Amino acid sequence: MKQQLSSPAVKKAAKTYRIAVIPGDGTGPEVIEQGRRVIDAAFSKNDIQMDWHLYDLGGERYLKTGETLPDSVLKELREMDAIYLGAIGHPDVKPGILEQGILLRLRFELDQYINLRPVKLYPGVWTPLKDKGPEQIDFVVVRENTEGLYAGVGGFLRKGTKEEVALQTSVNTRHGVERCVRFAFDCTRKRPRKKLTLCGKTNVLTFAHDLWQRTFNEVATEYPDVQTDYTHVDACCMWMVKNPEWFDVIVTDNMFGDIITDLGAMIQGGMGIAAGGNLNPSGVSMFEPIGGSAPKYTGKNVINPLAAICAGAMMLEHLGQPSVAQAIEQAVMKVTGTKLKSLAAGKMGYSTTEVADLVIEELG
Ligand code: IPM
Ligand code: MN
Repeated sequence: MKQQLSSPAVKKAAKTYRIAVIPGDGTGPEVIEQGRRVIDAAFSKNDIQMDWHLYDLGGERYLKTGETLPDSVLKELREMDAIYLGAIGHPDVKPGILEQGILLRLRFELDQYINLRPVKLYPGVWTPLKDKGPEQIDFVVVRENTEGLYAGVGGFLRKGTKEEVALQTSVNTRHGVERCVRFAFDCTRKRPRKKLTLCGKTNVLTFAHDLWQRTFNEVATEYPDVQTDYTHVDACCMWMVKNPEWFDVIVTDNMFGDIITDLGAMIQGGMGIAAGGNLNPSGVSMFEPIGGSAPKYTGKNVINPLAAICAGAMMLEHLGQPSVAQAIEQAVMKVTGTKLKSLAAGKMGYSTTEVADLVIEELG
């Protein structure tokens, strides 16, 4: 094998990335396949190669074998350059099992402490916000991804009785908060507007968000070029709808980040376009369309692949290929701006595969 690869007759890739692909459930496999096609096409003209390693994690495997994320698979994933994930969630599996056993376990085990979610309205995309366009909707949410209410700390007392007590503790460590806040400042510094908003609830969460606020203020002194701001999470939802142009980068905890990024996805045109990255800046990161498995559209070739394609572009950016990532984003913008009737499944005017074809055509 080795001999063959180094043979002068075979073009050797200057750089090969080892990518774990977890297509997952529902429409996940369809959109990830299109994302891979676009990435392979984007690299066809240079000597970079993607070495895709497929993993069948998800609902089907769980129903067959009872396994969610076997340790042996996790061990292999740790050796990859990145993970490209479709969607996790199966109608025949009790909610929580796959989410906790696969998605959250991957985030925690691989210490992907940032969930980066751009909220950017592309040209030609319908937004439910009246009088707002791409000029007004262009920000990034930096969501803490390994702590808070997601830490799994809590328990029941006297379960099933009238005196039942359920506790779910929000875990906020100085280390976890500070690394997230620092990432957000670094990210803000790279953007033209350089404005960072902390989103919290300091008027009620007087312990947890006091820690966030103090950490934020301390780190801010190291970034005099970044303009800072604060908003309570409820007001943040209001401003995201009323004046989204106020935001450049928002940093927030895990639970609030989960909630405001669904709102963000809606104002940028819906789940068909919203992508995110679960980042460990010094480890293995994972990129996913944030929309879920959409089981009712499975196998119909109608789901929008653009969120998966955009997640793929984020992955390339993260791998150190910003120009290819930008080329894909530009191609997507061209397609939304000039071709698609809608971003909704079944209403695009094109099938899943045709939308990817259009992006590949634009890539040239
Ligand atoms: C997300 C999802 C997950 C989360 C679920 C599926 C556990 O909603 O990625 O935003 O809450 O983080
Ligand atoms: Mn969510």
